[in-house]
Amino acid sequence: MELNGLGENAKKNIRKAAESLTQLDIDLGVMKLEHIAERIDENDKSLINSRVDTNKLVPFKYEWAWQKYLDGCSNHWMPQEVNMTPDIALWRAENGLTEDEREIVKRSLGFFATADSLVANNLVLAIYRRITNPECRQYILRQAFEEAIHTHTYQYCIESLGMDEGEIFNMYREIPAVARKAAWGLKYTQALTDPNFETGTVESDQIFLKNLIAFYCVLEGIFFYCGFTQILSMGRRNKMTGIAEQFQFILRDESMHVNFGIDLINQIKHENPRLWTTSFKVEVIQMIIEGTMLEIEYARDTMPRGVLGMNASMMEEYLKFICNRRLNQLGLREQYIKANNPFQWMSEMMDLRKEKNFFETRVNEYQASSNLSWD
Ligand SMILES: [Fe+2]
Ligand SMILES: [Fe+2]
Repeated sequence: MELNGLGENAKKNIRKAAESLTQLDIDLGVMKLEHIAERIDENDKSLINSRVDTNKLVPFKYEWAWQKYLDGCSNHWMPQEVNMTPDIALWRAENGLTEDEREIVKRSLGFFATADSLVANNLVLAIYRRITNPECRQYILRQAFEEAIHTHTYQYCIESLGMDEGEIFNMYREIPAVARKAAWGLKYTQALTDPNFETGTVESDQIFLKNLIAFYCVLEGIFFYCGFTQILSMGRRNKMTGIAEQFQFILRDESMHVNFGIDLINQIKHENPRLWTTSFKVEVIQMIIEGTMLEIEYARDTMPRGVLGMNASMMEEYLKFICNRRLNQLGLREQYIKANNPFQWMSEMMDLRKEKNFFETRVNEYQASSNLSWD
């Protein structure tokens, strides 16, 4: 090794690094890391408790997960792309919004500003390491970034409107209807944060499955729906169109997250039928009903009177319709009779393609955030 011209410390550091590399044992490293160092066959892959090398993306076994990763990437967007100028003017205007409408904007930003962090933290800290399949992990990494964009979006809206950040970001601790939803979700993360928790037994695999159901089917699949419907209804009435467009992009991402979660849960069920017992199904049904009841509470709390062409009982019917749909997607019996969808337009919103500019508010030329000015 040529060390001429180097100082004594640098020579020492380089010699030490070279010596350390001579001791690197490739086989042991790989074997320890993934238990196995052989080439893999896709049939050896499984979603949980796999002993196969998780660093090898291909050959694919779960094409649906890879396809969702590709779809997520092709739907990329950033909050700075949406023009917030009309929202700022309306928010500042005297009599621009009614008190009930202002409250809905605050509650929605208050709930979502922290809810997407709860989802992101659960993904990274509880779900990622227990899903032992690389194509699903690839989607989870994409989803985690989307959750970061969502939290960024709420921060961006809160800052644009000049709201009290302390109040909005602490709402999940202060407002009971918001706090109860957050506490319900956190309960299922906490169960997995014990460093000694490992999947591999019926009991622990069921705990993990409950976490997936709590987050994908209830948090993302039910808890987001009242706030989304309220804000999108506001946009349809030509109010707060920037925030409404941001929420529309988020809703489209979230409907993909829910679909991925449902596919993931159903495939785990399929690979591990011993987990899906009659008593476990009863517990899952109860979880989904609990989530629906909490969201109905939130709807009543945020809509003491009719507002934006809707009211709490219409929202209750919608949430029961969503609850039936989630149960159905998991292969469970619907629990509410004759729950119809009073907000058909919500389904169209979820199918939005990025190029379609529903509210006509998109900034025509992309600007870096540092160049954006609302004055
Ligand atoms: Fe999100
Ligand atoms: Fe999500």
